[in-house]
Amino acid sequence: MLDTGFSDSRLPHEGVLAILAPSDGAPSALYTQVDAATGGALSRAARAADFSFAARASCVVLAPGAGLERVVLVGLGPREGIDARVAEQAGGSVVSALGKVTARAAVVLDTLPGDLAAHVALGAVLGAYRFDSYRTIWREGEAWKLEGLEFLSIDAPGATAAWAGLSAVARGVLLCRDLVNEPANMLRPDTFEARITKLRDLGVEVEVLDREAMHALGFGALLGVGQGSSVPPRTVIMRWNGGTEGEAPVAFIGKGVTFDSGGISIKPAAGMEEMKTDMGGAAAVVGTIAALAGRKARVNAVGVVGLVENMLSGDAQRPGDVVRTASGQTIEVLNTDAEGRLVLADVLWYAQDRFKPRFMVDLATLTGAIVVSLGTERAGLFSNDDALAQQLATTGEGVGDRLWRMPMCASYLELLRSDIADLKNIGGRAGGSITAAKFLECFVNKVPWAHLDIAGTAFANKASACVPKGATGFGVRLLDALVREHYEG
Ligand code: BES
Ligand code: MN
Ligand code: ZN
Repeated sequence: MLDTGFSDSRLPHEGVLAILAPSDGAPSALYTQVDAATGGALSRAARAADFSFAARASCVVLAPGAGLERVVLVGLGPREGIDARVAEQAGGSVVSALGKVTARAAVVLDTLPGDLAAHVALGAVLGAYRFDSYRTIWREGEAWKLEGLEFLSIDAPGATAAWAGLSAVARGVLLCRDLVNEPANMLRPDTFEARITKLRDLGVEVEVLDREAMHALGFGALLGVGQGSSVPPRTVIMRWNGGTEGEAPVAFIGKGVTFDSGGISIKPAAGMEEMKTDMGGAAAVVGTIAALAGRKARVNAVGVVGLVENMLSGDAQRPGDVVRTASGQTIEVLNTDAEGRLVLADVLWYAQDRFKPRFMVDLATLTGAIVVSLGTERAGLFSNDDALAQQLATTGEGVGDRLWRMPMCASYLELLRSDIADLKNIGGRAGGSITAAKFLECFVNKVPWAHLDIAGTAFANKASACVPKGATGFGVRLLDALVREHYEG
């Protein structure tokens, strides 16, 4: 993670500087100081580039004098509109301008209060994330250089205090991204389990259900998905007990298909590599629990993830097989590629049965249909509880993990009636993300529940301010903020 520190707003005399400033009002003290020290080089450059400190805009000034190598001007837009999101975007702009040119830089934030300064750091840390441990060859100018930023703030103690909580959330997001970016030969159910076990260092209780334990619990649906893989599945339970003893926990459930080949209903070759990300829901749950533990959230939280590899083999599940779930309901598996809902059927049932949670939120890269509906801008939100759905939708807008609520009418369930079992696992092409959600609802036993279909949002094929190309970490900030805003004692 990018190294960050906050100190009083005094000018460094040399090196690389970024200056964040609003587009209106009097120029900041340090901007004025640097501009004067460089004989007006900053204002001349800004004028020449037609740069007016609009939000999301930046302008690089090379060798302005006064011993400075380079100054990046970053806009915050009108003072009125400066919120946490604008601050984060600005932090993202700083690292995208400086990431490949310098190891260290100072960032002038003397127009922002301490809490917004901490959000600039968050944006910078999230934007500076790189998954490059497998790269050994770099072309000229391609390698990432930035290691640390010093933020010059008018309230360094306030910023440092706010950053204590936010940095734990940042670490959760980066952990989630690392897990999702990891190729599927490196992250299989066993190695994924090992990565989760490391959360014990944060005070998280980690418990593993192996194949035998799941067999005893009747997890026929989850086990069916995993039966074609040479690495057996597992269910991993994480518990963070930061709340009142005995208080019912909040529960987060994740689909952790470490690779989804489709099974015998095999996927087409084109794009199949993206199915290494089919554990994005589980990764978001792991990242969330890491964030809550890292900032010692005053809440009891449980995370439950079903880790399975959906492969083909002589032992793989066949189309037409019937499996019995932990709930007792039976499922006719008409398509082995609709495997996520089979995994979640057992894990959701188990989570509500064992933990009697206040609510459950599951995250899953569940359907291609949600990508058709909502694209990559928003995840699908499905819920049996209006209050929970509203909390999630509003919190999501605030942190930038955006959701859109989808219908859950009873009529969709009719499409899942099987001729020989209680349910079939596909409901046809039409409304595919909704029938998938209705299927899951059969396994929540009426507990307040929300399902987030993150198939379009877990992985980005192009970079944006605080999200480099690749895994996004979608869901971690959302669930952390949901807890902070509504469920912390
Ligand atoms: N993991 C996929 C869904 C997915 C698609 C995730 C694209 C990310 C990007 C899921 O297991 C799947 O294969 N769903 C099928 C369901 C169908 C067989 C009913 C789909 O969406 O095509
Ligand atoms: Mn599938
Ligand atoms: Zn899948």
